Amino acid sequence: MSAPSPSFLMICTGPNCGERGGKALVRGLRDLLIDRGQHGPIRVAPVSCFGQCATGPNACAWPNGAFVTGLDGSRPEVALAALSAQPAPANPADPA
Ligand code: FES
Repeated sequence: MSAPSPSFLMICTGPNCGERGGKALVRGLRDLLIDRGQHGPIRVAPVSCFGQCATGPNACAWPNGAFVTGLDGSRPEVALAALSAQPAPANPADPA
């Protein structure tokens, strides 16, 4: 089964990630999604901190569960591909 497409891209704009590219990534991802006609089905949401500041800029996608670190704020297309590509983590409630 393939991972579902992300509906929300949560980009850290906290005190560490934001200054290292997180804020630029929010703007870049919104512009990219608008250019591709995907803004609406996919939303970009800034978040304040994932508590993983040393590895940022960090981002998370829902519902596929991707968590990506070390993003480049000037490469939104790379961030979108990374956030779309990761499979959903296993649900511990699912039978093996
Ligand atoms: S500032 Fe981004 S994880 Fe803390």
